[in-house]
Amino acid sequence: MKAVILAGGYATRLRPLSCSNPKLLFPVVGVPLIDLMVRWLKQAGIDDVILAVNHLSDKLRTEIGAKRLGSKITFSIEENPLGTAGPIRLAKNFLGDEPFVVINGDIVSDVNLKQMIRSHEENNAKATVSLVTVPDARQYGAAELNQAGRITKFEEKSAQRKSQTVNAGVYVLDPSIIHLIPPARPSSMESMIFPRLASEGSIWGQKHAGYWYDIGTIPNYLKANKELLVRFHNTSPSKLAQHERPGQSKPAAFMGDRVAFQLLERQSGPGIPVNGVSITQPCFIGEASTLRPGASIGPSTILARGVNVDHGSKVRDSIIFEYTSIAGDCHIDGAIIGERVSIGSGTKIGPGAIIAGEVNIPSNSIIKQKAIVLN
Ligand code: GTP
Repeated sequence: MKAVILAGGYATRLRPLSCSNPKLLFPVVGVPLIDLMVRWLKQAGIDDVILAVNHLSDKLRTEIGAKRLGSKITFSIEENPLGTAGPIRLAKNFLGDEPFVVINGDIVSDVNLKQMIRSHEENNAKATVSLVTVPDARQYGAAELNQAGRITKFEEKSAQRKSQTVNAGVYVLDPSIIHLIPPARPSSMESMIFPRLASEGSIWGQKHAGYWYDIGTIPNYLKANKELLVRFHNTSPSKLAQHERPGQSKPAAFMGDRVAFQLLERQSGPGIPVNGVSITQPCFIGEASTLRPGASIGPSTILARGVNVDHGSKVRDSIIFEYTSIAGDCHIDGAIIGERVSIGSGTKIGPGAIIAGEVNIPSNSIIKQKAIVLN
């Protein structure tokens, strides 16, 4: 079976972080979202993935490549945005004659795809939609189900919403629906295709009770990272043990399976203890990150791959994207800092601040609470 990931939106609600970085490359607990998605699909036996992209497609192609974690990646590139249905029509030639999975490219979830595929086949459905219950349903399309699980009504985003059961952005589709999508113009699954299938009685819903995050806004992105950091931390004690180092009574921090904790032992010189870095959990330290003795990390802090934190710098309650470098004696609290940012020594960054990717911040800068720093 194949899967299409819809990843061509402009991600306006994640600006300025999304100006230089497409959503699929955003780190979620330090790991690029695309890797979480590829692993999730692989658990359901799907290792043939089509990425439907336009915005920042060159960057995606360069960074992701034709194979990712052993799965085949094919790019279906739109010249102009085609919405949430148009890209599926465009990818028709890659899809073949079997049912396929479609996922919004901003979802982090443990939806059981195998089970969805099974019930899609059993129901002989044209579409099966994963449904989740959220406290505030106004920003999502909602569905009403009958007792058998058939969707009887599909409602677009609305301020006056009765149902809390919303579209999770994860579908199994029959190839016959591709012909319902008009070619070469923008169209929407939620407002055009699904209501039509609901009126025919050929679309089914499957409620999901596990975790589900849509990371498409800054508050949602933060919430997903914080909650998943704690979840992964609590559920992966073996990974912690794996990374225990000689001379440390406790593991330093939670680290994912492709992640190593690098202290610059050689550069720190003789006599300086390896555990001269203060870590307050929960934390995630990405692969190839460098923490100098005297640095203080955590709690609730996520460093993606290749982040450097120099002597005397404190980073707490923050998310730092890949290859960002923090010079000595900085204080960073409650911030999100984009990729490849260079922060000069002695800088203070206050709660709620967001720094766009690829920015250089001079030494001794003071970035106030909730400030947004653009490139
Ligand atoms: P905002 O600009 O913040 O609304 O973000 P968005 O358009 O990226 O996301 P939205 O939640 O509106 O869309 C849901 C999913 O569909 C996201 O993963 C988008 O990348 C994807 N998507 C939205 N529009 C398009 C499009 O025109 N083409 C493709 N290929 N994907 C799209």
